[in-house]
Amino acid sequence: AEALRIALAGVGTVGAGVIRLLSENAALLQARAGRPIRVVAVSARDRGKHRGVDLSRFDWCDDMTEMAARDDVDAVVELVGGADGPALTLARNTIRSGKALVTANKAMIAHHGLALAEAAEAAGVPLKFEAAVAGGIPVIKGLREGAAANLIDKVQGILNGTCNFILSTMEDTGRDFADVLAEAQAKGFAEADPTLDIEGIDAGHKLAILAAIAFGSRLDLDHVSCEGIARVRAADIARARDLGFVIRLIGEADVEPDGSASRLLQRVRPCLVPDNHPLAHVDGPTNAVVAEGNFSGRLLFQGAGAGDGPTASAVVADLIDIARGERGSPFSVPVAQLEPMAPAEPGDRRGHTY
Ligand code: HSE
Repeated sequence: AEALRIALAGVGTVGAGVIRLLSENAALLQARAGRPIRVVAVSARDRGKHRGVDLSRFDWCDDMTEMAARDDVDAVVELVGGADGPALTLARNTIRSGKALVTANKAMIAHHGLALAEAAEAAGVPLKFEAAVAGGIPVIKGLREGAAANLIDKVQGILNGTCNFILSTMEDTGRDFADVLAEAQAKGFAEADPTLDIEGIDAGHKLAILAAIAFGSRLDLDHVSCEGIARVRAADIARARDLGFVIRLIGEADVEPDGSASRLLQRVRPCLVPDNHPLAHVDGPTNAVVAEGNFSGRLLFQGAGAGDGPTASAVVADLIDIARGERGSPFSVPVAQLEPMAPAEPGDRRGHTY
């Protein structure tokens, strides 16, 4: 069978992981996808950067936004990041060219996912973004496909590996915030602009995507309230521990009845989580998602939320789906009409304890 030919935009931590995975697991991927998956072209901001992978066998494209137009490309993998800019131009060009798009870009999907999904639907091309939420955990597939038969009215989770690494490391070692953040950056978990992590914005992007998938509702980033972890002190963590709690940055989306309507509350904030809650034992750059299905009962998804191998594994799983002929996007079937619920005022401490 003919290969699925890939253009890869962005060769950072995750991009290098995708190249390594495609090469190391080539035989099993071919068996599962029914055909080879082959990178033909790559592009990145800095050509000279050392990435620990050999790029010499791929065509180098100076302008990544042009990659989709190439005749020898069937699918584009966008790992550049950023809600707008070249990532968005490339995404639009890809769909317009009738090619498949796989992205790990949570900011772009949270801001523009609906418009991109509609364009992909109209063009009859696949748009996939498993890697955008919770790295290597197949939580989009899990909720959309695995829990498809269920009514879900609450999803909560630890959606930012950097914040979880910071909070759990401060708790274990007493090290200070800045020092642990620097380590998360060195390990490649943190965003290029780590304020996106620290202020809860990255978790907010992921929560909005997850809520739309879990509830089959319209993606609604505008009504996600975010409070980050910058004000959490080592002393708060120690005091919480004395009382039988840990502090975790929790994203939560909740559907609540309001007369004959239903409203959606989406918020990200540091919470006191009691020791007996499954999210209390999630340490390091790990992510976890808890969802309650009306027939499935409680579902817990847990695994690495960031890093090259886990995130690459989600990207390549999407490529396998595309190689097998899957179309559309995970947003394909919106059903629930949910109005936003006004979040509590900043500083309101209610709802910060589980
Ligand atoms: N900065 C993100 C995190 C990377 O720490 O979770 C994965 O989306």
